[in-house]
Amino acid sequence: MKILITGANGLLGQKITALLLKEKACFAATGKTSSEAIIKMDISSPAETCEVIGKERPDVIIHAAALTQVDDCEIQRDLCFAANVKGVENIVSAAEKANAHLIHLSTDFVFDGKFGPLDENAIPNPVNYYGKCKLEGEEIIRRAALSWSILRTVLVYGAAPIMSRPNIVLWVKKSLEEKKAIKVVNDQWRTPTLAEDLAAGCLLAAKKKAQGIYHISGKEMFTPFEIAVRTADFFNLDKSFLAETDSSQFAQPAKRPMKTGFIIAKAERELGFKPHSFEEGLRLVAKQLDSFASKTS
Ligand SMILES: NC(=O)c1ccc[n+]([C@@H]2O[C@H](COP(=O)([O-])OP(=O)(O)OC[C@H]3O[C@@H](n4cnc5c(N)ncnc54)[C@H](OP(=O)(O)O)[C@@H]3O)[C@@H](O)[C@H]2O)c1
Repeated sequence: MKILITGANGLLGQKITALLLKEKACFAATGKTSSEAIIKMDISSPAETCEVIGKERPDVIIHAAALTQVDDCEIQRDLCFAANVKGVENIVSAAEKANAHLIHLSTDFVFDGKFGPLDENAIPNPVNYYGKCKLEGEEIIRRAALSWSILRTVLVYGAAPIMSRPNIVLWVKKSLEEKKAIKVVNDQWRTPTLAEDLAAGCLLAAKKKAQGIYHISGKEMFTPFEIAVRTADFFNLDKSFLAETDSSQFAQPAKRPMKTGFIIAKAERELGFKPHSFEEGLRLVAKQLDSFASKTS
């Protein structure tokens, strides 16, 4: 089975690539920019997407590429639409021609945050532009004439050699190490997801060519403030630089859903998905950061 990954320079893309290398699997890694191991494929270009997928002829495509910075998506709506809606159309059309199974990554931000944790039967109702475009992406896939899985996930954290965007654990760790005061909201709820667990979930879905929607995340529900406190405690950092705030005090261009978090029983039952605890996830991140530091010193 040959797997093609989109967004291979991203956090999830790097974790999937590492797993496939470990399993000595047959795969092609693609990204917006090319490198020695990555084929250039800008998903917003129909011609480039069609050409690369047509040439590689994968059995499964794991579509991890997206514009993921929620506030940037709210402000630069045309860029968000090009990557997160048109990009999905381009992938779908190339996947149909190649007769490939498509695994599409989506988000808890398709929900309005009024209830949580949520299972796959919950009704989406996005509150920001990123969520609206990701939901439109899901709808394009559901209408397509191909075999598909949609994996929705929540607040992904982890460490990788290339980090083009921050995540909550690395942001809290870096800020407190630099003795920079940070405020973190205490009235939103999430089930944070270790990037390695999400990558493992993608490969489980790929091997089974799983059909339908799956919620993939950690099992523990925390507020971002609780995540920050646990991160500070784990890395033994000074919590006096950490302050609680609530969403009403925190102006951000894109509105956030208040309570999401996922019920992952379907993924556990049907895919054999087994996420790490948050504490175990932090332990893995710490080990990886140490190994990156020793390679650069
Ligand atoms: N991170 C989260 O907390 C989170 C939560 C819920 C769902 N998700 C979903 O999970 C998936 C993976 O996210 P991630 O955490 O790995 O995000 P990420 O680290 O931001 O990676 C996304 C990758 O997509 C690439 N990309 C953007 N536009 C592209 C284009 N036009 N053509 C090709 N590649 C493009 C980016 O390249 P550049 O960096 O070069 O722009 C980046 O390498 C996404 O679908 C995201 O919506 C993520």
